[in-house]
Amino acid sequence: MTEKRQFRAIKGTRDILPPDSALWNWFEQTAREVFESYGFRDIRLPIFEETSLFARSIGADTDVVAKEMYTFEDREQFRVAHPLTMVDVIRIDEAVAEAWQHGRIPRTLANETEVLRLHEASQNIDREGTPALLCFLDSVRNLALGDSLTLRPEATASVARAYIEHGMHTQPGNVKLYYSGPMFRRERPQKGRYRQFYQVGAEALGQSDAPGIDAEVLEMLLVFFKRVGLTQTTLYVNSIGCKECRPKYVELLREELRKVKDRLGPDSQRRIDTNPLRVLDSKLPDEQPIIEKLPRISNHLCADCGEHFAKLKDELHLRGIVYEENWRLVRGLDYYTRTTFEVTAAGLGSQNAVCGGGRYDGLVELLGGPPTKGIGFAIGTDRAILSIQEGGKLPQLPGLAVFVAWMGAKSYPAAVAIARKLRECGLAVELPPEEMKFKKSLGLADKLGARYALIIGEDDVASGTFTLKRLADAEQKKLSENDLLEYLESERRGSGA
Ligand code: HAM
Repeated sequence: MTEKRQFRAIKGTRDILPPDSALWNWFEQTAREVFESYGFRDIRLPIFEETSLFARSIGADTDVVAKEMYTFEDREQFRVAHPLTMVDVIRIDEAVAEAWQHGRIPRTLANETEVLRLHEASQNIDREGTPALLCFLDSVRNLALGDSLTLRPEATASVARAYIEHGMHTQPGNVKLYYSGPMFRRERPQKGRYRQFYQVGAEALGQSDAPGIDAEVLEMLLVFFKRVGLTQTTLYVNSIGCKECRPKYVELLREELRKVKDRLGPDSQRRIDTNPLRVLDSKLPDEQPIIEKLPRISNHLCADCGEHFAKLKDELHLRGIVYEENWRLVRGLDYYTRTTFEVTAAGLGSQNAVCGGGRYDGLVELLGGPPTKGIGFAIGTDRAILSIQEGGKLPQLPGLAVFVAWMGAKSYPAAVAIARKLRECGLAVELPPEEMKFKKSLGLADKLGARYALIIGEDDVASGTFTLKRLADAEQKKLSENDLLEYLESERRGSGA
């Protein structure tokens, strides 16, 4: 008997159901409109990429790469016949040996072990029978023939890869791109933190690193947040220097941290060697007074970085952008240089960062492309929408406009025809496929949140009129088809449906 079981969404993933999905569409559509008004254009990227793209861009020692990526082998397997004859075993053994010799099997230590084990097992099958055969099959399956791929944990690396792959540096001016879609990180799920989460992001790449670009990107972000009613936000900015000044600062920080090592927790103690900047991210209450006394990067920027940061602040002032400087904002991804920023929002508890971003001059070069400057951000859609919902200022989204309440078989053809015409005008229309009692029909219209019920009885068909009832106040009108279409069309424009 087959087991009956209920499937559930995987831990850390979730379904976005109506009516919330309408809010998500509106949020993403508003981002498109705002970003396009700043000259950004849509880029659609693959959901998975070569693992090494992320390791190289984000940094092999970061939490994202070291602990959180969904990585899998793009498996190609040696085909194994069923049932397996001794001739098949010899054929596979020879094919594996040949593929190994010519480098068609990735030369990893694990693969080398399996190739040897497989050959040995094939030699023993005659003598040992089933155990050797099982061992042989096991090794065939374990051979990792394919590329290592990863579900994208973020999209900046993919944008940089696409920029290089399509020679976008030859395009005039800055290349300004935006994207939206799911990202994947194997984090511990909690409110505002998921394993499949969504981002809306924007990236500007090109030859210039003028602070005006940084400021315009921030202006665009805040204009967008205002448009979607995300107003209880704080923008934090920092500069983390460049490859000239940051290593010296990191060394100084390391020295200072070593002096206070005994007073730090185990994570921070470990980070003194691996990545001292990440100690600044610590939220442990006991470490706060110690961190406050550490040297600050703003006092150790080189002249160019210092000037860039000062000009960025002037530019923000020029645009009336309110921000807080936060010297501890180092961000968790390795590609950043100079400007870094984050926006926090109300109503989210500990996962309150709704957006993170910064400059990544040199990332394109690191991936084999031409010297290129870049800056961008990604908004966490899940968190931004949570914060909008918690704030209670939800937009009025159009929803269902008309419920066609038809009665009597003779009115059905007229109901089908008018439903199609109203839908062609862009209205959302519900047409019950079976006749319903009048009261039940209006009750359903109400429950579905329709703004109007269009009542069509057999008498109306004979007289060529329709009765339109506004459900909010029960106001009723008798209209000809033309008047009806005109009336609802103007209502649609008014409601933005
Ligand atoms: P990030 O700070 O790693 O930056 O992520 C950006 C935003 O994505 C976060 O502020 C947060 O709102 C959201 N987010 C991250 N992880 C999760 C999660 N597990 N669950 C829910 N939301 C999450 C980046 O991804 C960079 N690529 C941003 C960037 C673009 N920098 C330059 N250009």
